[in-house]
Amino acid sequence: MANRLTSLLPGHMRKRVDPILETVAIMREVKNPAAVASMVPSMLRGNVLQLGKRQTSTEMVSGHAAYFDWEYKSDFPEMRELYRRAKQNQWDADIALDWSRDVDPMNPERPLLPPDFFGDVILRQGTVQLSALEERKFNYHIASWMLSNFLHGEQGALYAAAQVTESVRWMDGKLYGATQVMDEGRHVEAFHRYIDEKLNRLYVINDNLFTIIDALMTDSRWDMKFLGMQIMVEGLALGAFGVMYRITGEPFLKDMLRYIIQDEARHVHYGVLALREHFSKHLSDRERREREDWAFEIALLMRNRFMAHEVYEEWFEGILPRSEWNNLVLQSPGMREFRSVMFSRLIPNLRYIGLLSDRIAPHYEEVGLVKYIAGRNASELTGDQMLHELDHAKSEYDDVNAVLEQMASGHGEDHSADDHSAAAE
Ligand SMILES: [Fe+2]
Ligand SMILES: [Fe+2]
Repeated sequence: MANRLTSLLPGHMRKRVDPILETVAIMREVKNPAAVASMVPSMLRGNVLQLGKRQTSTEMVSGHAAYFDWEYKSDFPEMRELYRRAKQNQWDADIALDWSRDVDPMNPERPLLPPDFFGDVILRQGTVQLSALEERKFNYHIASWMLSNFLHGEQGALYAAAQVTESVRWMDGKLYGATQVMDEGRHVEAFHRYIDEKLNRLYVINDNLFTIIDALMTDSRWDMKFLGMQIMVEGLALGAFGVMYRITGEPFLKDMLRYIIQDEARHVHYGVLALREHFSKHLSDRERREREDWAFEIALLMRNRFMAHEVYEEWFEGILPRSEWNNLVLQSPGMREFRSVMFSRLIPNLRYIGLLSDRIAPHYEEVGLVKYIAGRNASELTGDQMLHELDHAKSEYDDVNAVLEQMASGHGEDHSADDHSAAAE
């Protein structure tokens, strides 16, 4: 209904009203508002005022404590081992990658994303009719949107890693954290250079990503920063990089992601080590429950809220209702694959750090995420193993493509209800 009413408004007014309606929709999705109350100021800055879109730079004020240790004793052997591995596996993006290689983002033989990422059937038979050339351009823009948000997320990871390095109490964690800061700096460098030199298409930050980063940067509690950035954002990013690595037909991007995934696997491993120790020994029950509720709400928001509205506004605003676009995104084979892999990485990590108790598990079950619970967590999976799996595993994407082919030939059924992702509006 809201969509129908806003579609009657002139474009400039709709642009003002839509973010407010989006924010209301987000709040309506939240099952436990108290759990995310601390995020309301960030939501105002990110979703309503859209500071990430309207400014070329932003100051986020943080009030965390830097913790000094004057004894320098080694205090966490597994972190020390990660530090050693991180030092040995440093790479230089200038040398490791051959930047003279030519990349044509419109080349159909080396597509950034597979041509059926959004589903041939959906794009060709729905309200939207794109020519073959437009489809290639559209896929190029979707890929640029994703990679731009990877880059913005990496900038968040760089500063969060620096803050957490100051704040953690383990000396070995601080040393390890220093390597992560370097890693994230290199990721910012590599993603930016790829976007700038090869794609020539940088999108502004997605409002929801801005909100999450703003909330983490400004939270004074180090473990909340850590949970948000190291487990939720990094965990989802690792899943997203993995899918991109697996499905892209662009060899340079694939090579670059291969390097980055190996670093990210260490980051999430560090995250689960630190938080398992901290949550099991240093938190009261009430504090642990608070983090458990918060993680659940953030997981839901992340699942339903990366809708590529920036691409929609460029391509389909005024042609296709926003709600129809949201459905298209949620049901597209590629985005389903992204969600599936991201949560298969995240849920086992939440269980490992003690944030998936019997109290909260039914909530995950209700939204269809509990099926990932038995997967391996980040402490059981190195970057090499992850890449090996990505190179060899059969993907849900293949299944979805099979279903789409069946639908196109008039057989089979719509399996969209299997994925419990409710459309946002
Ligand atoms: Fe990174
Ligand atoms: Fe990272």
